[in-house]
Amino acid sequence: MPPSYDFAAEIADCARAVEAALDRLLVEERLSGPGPAARRVVAAMRHGSLNGGKRLRPLLVRQAAQVFGVPAEAAMPAGLAVEAVHCYSLLHDDLPAMDDDDLRRGQPTVHVAFDEATAILAGDALLTHAFALLADETCHPDPTVRIRLVAELAAGSGVGGMVGGQMRDIEGEKGGFSNGDIEVMQAMKTGALIRASVRMGAILGGADPRALSAMTAYAQAAGRAFQLADDILDVTATSEAMGKATGKDAGKGKQTLVAQMGLEAARRELDTIVNDAVMALRTFGPRADGLRATARYFASRNS
Ligand code: IPE
Ligand code: IPE
Ligand code: MG
Ligand code: MG
Ligand code: MG
Repeated sequence: MPPSYDFAAEIADCARAVEAALDRLLVEERLSGPGPAARRVVAAMRHGSLNGGKRLRPLLVRQAAQVFGVPAEAAMPAGLAVEAVHCYSLLHDDLPAMDDDDLRRGQPTVHVAFDEATAILAGDALLTHAFALLADETCHPDPTVRIRLVAELAAGSGVGGMVGGQMRDIEGEKGGFSNGDIEVMQAMKTGALIRASVRMGAILGGADPRALSAMTAYAQAAGRAFQLADDILDVTATSEAMGKATGKDAGKGKQTLVAQMGLEAARRELDTIVNDAVMALRTFGPRADGLRATARYFASRNS
């Protein structure tokens, strides 16, 4: 990566590429199996995945792969798989049984635009399709690499990762979480998919165990920073800027570090965590500039 790394250009390019690829992939012909894909579910999958989203997880896959010299296009299928899981997690997170939200990425949530059953099924289908993307040989020519990617995404998404964190988030609404409980919850509900994204990029690049462990340290700090920023923005940002409801966490009794330590301390903590993320990359040269810029962006973003 050249010294004049342009983060704004890369995030825009990645978002454009992800949008175009999802638009191509999420169609009845491509999603049909033993039977034809159900039209209504495909429409809901498209509603929940297209037209918006910062596409930060595919960006992380691509930037992590870039550290090991993998071109952006080669990291795209794995990035799309993580994005599909992320979109599914948002569809379900917004359901009345969970956060009960009506607005996502500036449009009505899937259960509002369709209905709850369709939103649940569209989430299920996005999750399942993610693994089909990883199993496909366009993802990587070596089946051993594909299997490692499958295992990595399964670990990040499942009950020991995102799903487990979502359970803790709901349980936490009753109160009584310590700072440590909040950190575990956040590392799981948001951190686990961010960790998987970075590690999947490193796996695509054939990272050795030492490099993978440095990348993991980066990812864990970046994941913490990301959710802490989300919780700060829930208090400080407008719904228009975020494309989703804000100012709801406190009322729902969500256990956040902002509620626990106050806004100013949370902001200071955010700066510290971003520094930790950047420090974890010290053994990598300018090729890790993308990951460094993304960690900084996590803290400075306003949408
Ligand atoms: C929102 O994630 C949900 C959290 C994990 C906090 P993003 O802020 O990455 O959402 P999109 O994909 O850009 O809409
Ligand atoms: C969402 O956390 C985490 C997942 C979807 C896994 P939030 O509930 O804080 O996300 P937003 O604020 O609705 O985007
Ligand atoms: Mg939630
Ligand atoms: Mg939510
Ligand atoms: Mg939130």
